[in-house]
Amino acid sequence: MAMINDTMTTALNDQVRREFQAAQNYLAMATHLDGKSLESLAAFFYRQADEEREHAMKLVQYLLDVGRSPSIPAIECPQADFCGAKEIVEASLAQEQSVTQAIHELVDEALTAKDHSTYQFLLWFVDEQVEEEATFGKLLDIIEMSENVLQVEHYVRHMNTAEAAEGEGGE
Ligand code: FEO
Repeated sequence: MAMINDTMTTALNDQVRREFQAAQNYLAMATHLDGKSLESLAAFFYRQADEEREHAMKLVQYLLDVGRSPSIPAIECPQADFCGAKEIVEASLAQEQSVTQAIHELVDEALTAKDHSTYQFLLWFVDEQVEEEATFGKLLDIIEMSENVLQVEHYVRHMNTAEAAEGEGGE
């Protein structure tokens, strides 16, 4: 069994907390949008929340696999009220950028510790962050180019349909 040190274990548990926090933040955004009848944007954010929870659980499972104890964290109350879709997407992009930085610091830590198992495990997250930052960056571009939020809804509806089709094709 791969051995991972205490510092790496603590750092991975910090990441578990960040991923659960991101899940709750996206859930709060989704429910806010749902309450405004922006159903496609809401569906997109519900899916993001689910994905973040999966990321957290991937880390939890890894810690279990290497014989270390995952800690399931308390989560700060997420922001519940927003001025509009643009504020939500800007906050999401900032959150993803901060998660990317945290993941890169974990990779640095794994390299320093010559922890090849954790390094290899983290590469999936490095790729995932490139994808997530790109998704939110594109969404922000669309919001800035749109005349109103209904055009954004239209774009996101297509995005949701394409992702659902991809999901089915990938099963
Ligand atoms: Fe799991 Fe989007 O960070």
